[in-house]
Amino acid sequence: SSFKLWGGRFSKPTDRLVDELNASISFDRRLAYHDILGSLAHVQMLARQGIIPEIDAVAIVEGLGIILREIQQGEFEFRLEDEDIHLSVERRLRELIGPAAGRLHTARSRNDQVALDLRLWTRDAILVVSKGISEVVQALLDLAGRHRETVMPGYTHLQRAQPVLLAHHLHAYVAMLFRDLERLRDLYGRVNRSPLGSGALAGVTYPVDRQYVADLLAMDGICENSLDAVSDRDFVLEFLAALSLLMTHLSRLAEELILWSTGEFGFVEIDDAYATGSSIMPQKKNPDVAELIRAKTGRVLGHLTGLATVLKGLPLAYNKDLQEDKEGVFDAFDTVALILQVLPPMLRTLRFRTDRMAEAAAGSFSLATDLADHLVRQGMPFREAHELVGRVVAYCEAHKKDFPDLTPAEWSQFHPLLAESRPPLTVWDAIRAREIPGGTGPGQVSRALEQAVARLAEE
Ligand code: ARG
Repeated sequence: SSFKLWGGRFSKPTDRLVDELNASISFDRRLAYHDILGSLAHVQMLARQGIIPEIDAVAIVEGLGIILREIQQGEFEFRLEDEDIHLSVERRLRELIGPAAGRLHTARSRNDQVALDLRLWTRDAILVVSKGISEVVQALLDLAGRHRETVMPGYTHLQRAQPVLLAHHLHAYVAMLFRDLERLRDLYGRVNRSPLGSGALAGVTYPVDRQYVADLLAMDGICENSLDAVSDRDFVLEFLAALSLLMTHLSRLAEELILWSTGEFGFVEIDDAYATGSSIMPQKKNPDVAELIRAKTGRVLGHLTGLATVLKGLPLAYNKDLQEDKEGVFDAFDTVALILQVLPPMLRTLRFRTDRMAEAAAGSFSLATDLADHLVRQGMPFREAHELVGRVVAYCEAHKKDFPDLTPAEWSQFHPLLAESRPPLTVWDAIRAREIPGGTGPGQVSRALEQAVARLAEE
């Protein structure tokens, strides 16, 4: 319905509703900075290769500088009829410097341009997320450091299984988050490649220097195939996958905080600053932050699924479908970035009820495996010991007793070995017995925490 930079072959304006459907400016305006960055590199290359006159290149660089300032100061006018950020910047450039603006798009298509912009954006987003993950790791390590002597029940099937140190439990999340950092680092190398020079799809007819553009943008190299370069969004999908996995980890942690802060568990109290109340029930303190972390995991995973579905049937090369790559990843990033900011102070202010955790750790025959292991050390085959301790447990349950309540006479009913030498059966004995790499023994846990602190310092 208005002047189009691509309007030469058209005899009438587009329908207003088509403009609305077609336009991406409402969301790709977010790429303005990266779009200008890419154009600055491209125009320098064009002049250096003698593809456009130096004097025009200088005017373009100046104009782009002005536009950048206008955007930063919130003075830039994003118009629906500009269609997208690329045409918007070019329209403004023409207003500022006149016909020389028309040389910027030499040897370039919006197809390689938008691919570049999104790569530059994703590169920055990876760094922001990585920094945020490091801060969560730091908070977990601080918390774990304070709880090297806090015992808790370890669970399988959410049934008490064997005692562990709280520090060990927290370190499990540190291990997950280190993998998330590794994934992002690995992905960075695949994102940081320049598609410019691919043109619309087949490569361009000018003697461009693709590597020079990549160097100016501090990219690791160029995309190797022009058709792939303009239509590849693997890097967005991979980023969404990495964010989904990260959120999956944070959601598990959130779920545990929700569970542990119930009256039934009573293991932890969430600080007032990170909890909310009820509009009807005066006594309520709800773990809304943790619940939202759990819920927003679905949202991020939804964006991954959404984009995978957009991409899966696309023929080569560029298709307008690819414009749908942005909103989901922007939203996923914003969601994750906010959570990564909220989580560290929330973790640091958790108050653990160590007495309740210790009590729970000792209950439910959580030392049964240790009792069986004791018999094995006396020479009994493990299967036999397992069976025998199972019978002791059944006896205790029938008589409402725990292991320490059994008399020597009762023990000897089960096996002479148990009459002679009963193992030291405390939670701490069980924990100290597991000084195995990766285990919950206090020495191992301290070492794991030290290694994590050292690794984090290198991040
Ligand atoms: N706004 C478009 C996108 O986000 C830019 C590329 C448009 N290219 C085209 N040939 N229509 O994908």
